[in-house]
Amino acid sequence: MKPILFAANWKLNKTPTETKTFFTDFISKCPQDLQNKICFFVPATSLETTSNSLKDSDIQWGSQNCYSKISGAFTGEISAGVMKELGATHILIGHSERRQLFHENNDEIAGKGHLIQSLSLTPVLCIGETLEQRDRNLTLGICEDQLRTFIEQINPAQPWVIAYEPVWAIGTGRVATSNQVKEVHDFIRNFLIQELGTEVAQRICILYGGSVKPDNAKELLQLENVNGFLVGGASLEVDSFLKICLS
Ligand code: PGA
Repeated sequence: MKPILFAANWKLNKTPTETKTFFTDFISKCPQDLQNKICFFVPATSLETTSNSLKDSDIQWGSQNCYSKISGAFTGEISAGVMKELGATHILIGHSERRQLFHENNDEIAGKGHLIQSLSLTPVLCIGETLEQRDRNLTLGICEDQLRTFIEQINPAQPWVIAYEPVWAIGTGRVATSNQVKEVHDFIRNFLIQELGTEVAQRICILYGGSVKPDNAKELLQLENVNGFLVGGASLEVDSFLKICLS
């Protein structure tokens, strides 16, 4: 059985009140044995509400970013240490919106991964190419660079997750084809096997993200090296996200 994870990236959506309402509905509809395969990345302002809402469930959660230090003179940043105290399990890092809009680079992201693992939390590393890079046939090289810098700074044998998200497929409604997803996911798995050995490599979840919807999830999940999804838009509604998790 391959490991599975369905992750929701809410981005800058939902107030704490909306978050509470969502989770009350979601928990009442989500089968118990599915709960520990689900993880929500909520806005920083909803973290405490999320902690309270999910504390009696097996559903996992965390922030969409953190700083590379636990505390200090870093105005406006979010601490992974606070996540730990609130009971988070995962932290999303390196999302393409963070890389593009906030100029985060591979080194900085790897430093965050190291810190997250040192707190026994699980980093979820986003990687992926822009349309221009795909058109120039650079997709696999870009993914390899993003992964290589990361595994050099973390402990790859401790839990971590990869989310492959082609930038051109995020929020565009333009999902990658099965063949495109298969090519990159197979490449990532082979890279991990070569660098880390088969046993460690097979434990690592490789999620696909980019316009995942209830009607395309099933086909993609059948691919051997797709271990689940990172879902943006379709995770904002209880029913559509649950349908994806039940694919
Ligand atoms: P999308 O976003 O599902 O809305 O394309 C995915 C993501 O940005 O993680």
